[in-house]
Amino acid sequence: MRLVLLGPPGAGKGTQAEVLSRSRNIPAISTGDILRERIRDGSEIGREAKKYVESGSLVPDAVVIKMVRERLACDDARRGFILDGFPRTVAQAEALDKVLRELRITLDAVLYFETSTAVIVERLTGRRVCPKCRRNYHIRNIPPKKDNICDDCSSELIQRKDDTEETIRRRLRVYEEETAPLVKYYDEKGSLKRVSGDLDVKKLNSVIEKMFKG
Ligand code: AP5
Repeated sequence: MRLVLLGPPGAGKGTQAEVLSRSRNIPAISTGDILRERIRDGSEIGREAKKYVESGSLVPDAVVIKMVRERLACDDARRGFILDGFPRTVAQAEALDKVLRELRITLDAVLYFETSTAVIVERLTGRRVCPKCRRNYHIRNIPPKKDNICDDCSSELIQRKDDTEETIRRRLRVYEEETAPLVKYYDEKGSLKRVSGDLDVKKLNSVIEKMFKG
């Protein structure tokens, strides 16, 4: 399975990418996660990316394209992959087309998570993440067993720096301007499949699994 998950911030792309990655045993490749890891490491890319990620703007295309090109060439991506949060601009989509041609592979589909704004804001303001093992929670929809403590590693959960109301508004603006045009881009190529990001985690996963059964 080779999929791109496309949709606004908070649509649930990362959550579905993790579920599909476990069920299909293929890597979920999130450019957001890779960038946050580089920021924590204090690497050169991380130092450059920090201001963009924390303010909700897009990191320059050249930086992300290089990262994805290297990641897709890794052995574990040969059997398939789920790209979460990439591409996010038409330039990134064109670069991805080129990388796929070089690797002589094609995408099975681009899944577009159509999601209402009210759901997005509720999900992002309620998201909590484990700073150690990276597991994602939501204070109401997917709460940890013990208040604010990670079920897996017992660390105290935190809120992402870009999940404040002001930064969420900017991320939504950036999405509309830079990323939404990709819906048309992939629709014209015939690879776009629409799913409702408003569904709960299990229902949405079952819709996606049915699409790719067999
Ligand atoms: P990134 O990390 O990719 O953030 P995003 O696209 O804004 O997406 P999110 O992670 O916020 O949302 P999601 O759709 O994955 O939702 P999730 O599953 O977590 O990017 C962050 C930043 O990095 C960007 O702003 C940019 O600066 C930079 N960047 C990344 N990629 C880039 C690129 N290609 N080019 C340039 N810059 C780039 O779910 C959200 C919440 O809802 C969670 O709490 C979850 O538990 C809950 N939830 C999820 N699904 C459901 C459901 N079905 N029902 C109920 N609750 C749910």
